[in-house]
Amino acid sequence: MQRRNFVKVLGLSAFATSISGFELIEEKGIFSTDCTTSRDMIGPFFRNNAPLRNDLSYPEIVNEIPILVKGKVFGNDCKTPLTKVKIDIWHCDHNKEYDMDSDEFRCRGTISTDLEGCYWFKTFIPPPYAGRPKHIHYLIHEHEGYQKLATQLYFKGDKRIKKNNWIKYPWDQKRILEVYKNEDGLSAVDLDLYLSKI
Ligand SMILES: [Fe+2]
Repeated sequence: MQRRNFVKVLGLSAFATSISGFELIEEKGIFSTDCTTSRDMIGPFFRNNAPLRNDLSYPEIVNEIPILVKGKVFGNDCKTPLTKVKIDIWHCDHNKEYDMDSDEFRCRGTISTDLEGCYWFKTFIPPPYAGRPKHIHYLIHEHEGYQKLATQLYFKGDKRIKKNNWIKYPWDQKRILEVYKNEDGLSAVDLDLYLSKI
């Protein structure tokens, strides 16, 4: 039994340091990490050169739920906001399709953090596709000594969320977000992002 636990912990360490970039912290046999946001697959649908914009909605959206996504980007000390960080956002459209070639770059945008490290964008909760839960892709670009980070945002209560290589450990749960109503009555989610040093 002891040997099995040892092997399991070694496997976890290798995963944590070589793929996700965060530091694994063990306390009384319980493993957690530093604040660094865990990675998720970039997937096959990323496109370069998405337009600079904070609003991804479009006229055909009528039955979907509009949502405001916002948060802050921090350095690996878990508290210093990072300014002018370039972030690509993308998700499928209301027909569960990714726009791979049109000039519209539907459901795609490039945004950047402001002087307080804040970012935001407006869109809608995308439908699930191909058995995957509803999700929004992020690519945070390399920034002043911090690693590039590909990750994904999920929505709490989505029954399609299953344990897999990307939503596996307790720290991955930080990317499964509660939808709440903000002061303007709009649906919103908050996702703060914590980058790792190169
Ligand atoms: Fe996707």
